[in-house]
Amino acid sequence: MTRDQESIENPMHVAIIMDGNGRWATERGLPRTAGHHAGIRSLRETVETAVQRQIHTLTLYAFSSDNWQRPQSEVRALMRILAAQLPSQAARCVRQNIRLSIIGRRDRLPDPVLQAVQRAEARTIHGTALHLRLALDYSARDSLTRAAQHIRNNGNGDFLQALMRAYNADSPVPDVDLLIRTGGEQRLSDFLLWECAYAELYFTPDYWPDFDGTKLDTALYAFQKRQRRFGSVSV
Ligand code: FPP
Repeated sequence: MTRDQESIENPMHVAIIMDGNGRWATERGLPRTAGHHAGIRSLRETVETAVQRQIHTLTLYAFSSDNWQRPQSEVRALMRILAAQLPSQAARCVRQNIRLSIIGRRDRLPDPVLQAVQRAEARTIHGTALHLRLALDYSARDSLTRAAQHIRNNGNGDFLQALMRAYNADSPVPDVDLLIRTGGEQRLSDFLLWECAYAELYFTPDYWPDFDGTKLDTALYAFQKRQRRFGSVSV
């Protein structure tokens, strides 16, 4: 199959709920944070494969607004990982011509994370090979509510614009074509509820640290076999 043929069949927008880091670590007698560290390799390999498969947008759920309820030690560890990883991931993105941006609330992120986010976005703004979006302090319900409030307060307006503004997306992206969730659970957990209206859902029991480019290919293959009708009938 040529690259052009592949790109016709592959989804434009893939979103991933990277679940199972904690269980991966616990099953190995390691602290849960070891699972988050291990998940970085999966993230790197998945991004590389997404570029090769000419996926337009990849949105990864790195930290949900509900994750603030986790033990403080785990939240702090996750924020430390983000602040430490973002500069090197941004450098990698520059080398691979990837644009990295963050969606979600910014007002509650610790300063070192916010600064790392802003630098990473500025450094990668011209990337065209893939738009990689990390969802941080993200809640679809919170974004939808704030978008509706914005429309109400301003009389009227474009809802999608208001939604993008509510979760700090600075450019429009296509709706999600394929939503992948690792870790065996089969739920959406407040992720991209609007954008997933017609997403194909793919659940795998693999914990996120066991996910890689080959497993992304397996999900893409499953996607290619789905018949999408968008509420219509097949012809
Ligand atoms: C869910 O597993 C995973 C997370 C809450 C964090 C995901 C974060 C990373 C992979 C690191 C991100 C790093 C960068 C640079 C973006 P879980 O803890 O809910 O696992 P469990 O369901 O087994 O408890």
